[in-house]
Amino acid sequence: MKKLVVAIDGPAGAGKSTVAQLAAKELGYTYIDTGAMYRAVAWKVLQQGGEVTDEKILAVVPDIDVDLSYENGKTTVRVDGQDVTSEIRTPEVSHIVSKVAALGPVREKMVDLQRKMAERGGVLMDGRDIATNVLPGADVKIYLTASIAERANRRYKELREKGLAVDLADIEHDIAARDKADMEREISPLVQADDATLLDTTGMTIPEVVARIIGMCR
Ligand code: CDP
Ligand code: CDP
Repeated sequence: MKKLVVAIDGPAGAGKSTVAQLAAKELGYTYIDTGAMYRAVAWKVLQQGGEVTDEKILAVVPDIDVDLSYENGKTTVRVDGQDVTSEIRTPEVSHIVSKVAALGPVREKMVDLQRKMAERGGVLMDGRDIATNVLPGADVKIYLTASIAERANRRYKELREKGLAVDLADIEHDIAARDKADMEREISPLVQADDATLLDTTGMTIPEVVARIIGMCR
């Protein structure tokens, strides 16, 4: 079978990375988590300390080396050679990442890397602007979503299982704010591409969603 390029976009907590990773494994494809790349930039900005300003974000862009590798079903994210795979998942990073991702120079650098990674095909890439901007020629385009209550609950359970003391209302508030920022930004906002298939996963289990995605690819 031809090696496809699959684009999956959608709001926070829709299940994109979970189902994309499982589908990639089943198809023997490479999974590319573009959100992790914006999180990596945000992580580096936080290392500078103090208030997060556009100037501070733009100052890290020219020299930052963001490396995403996918081996044996596992994504590793490195910033300037340092493994930050777990550090980029904290609520602190989540809180500022949309501000970082709204800036043109940040996006230009990340989108260049993303397109290079997809060149050989056999990839499943997830994010916010994959179908509309990064890979407009993708073979399969999916817009994955779920109700805000379900998405907040999923993220809450995930963070609690990791042992983090989190509050459900705070998470829902943060997700809603991030969705609004991602949908309303000027450059490459989150929007369902005209030619993408809508998949509302509210009430669906992970295996059900994965099966739907594999079905679309076959
Ligand atoms: O996993 P979660 O849905 O929380 O977010 P993510 O996929 O890790 O993405 C984090 C943030 O990066 C998003 O809220 C967007 O602000 C930004 N992002 C983006 O602008 N474009 C992408 N292609 C992927 C992520
Ligand atoms: O990448 P994105 O932010 O879209 O979502 P995710 O990080 O893959 O998924 C958020 C959480 O929802 C994970 O803990 C998944 O296990 C869970 N999930 C779920 O409970 N049911 C689904 N149908 C999909 C994901």
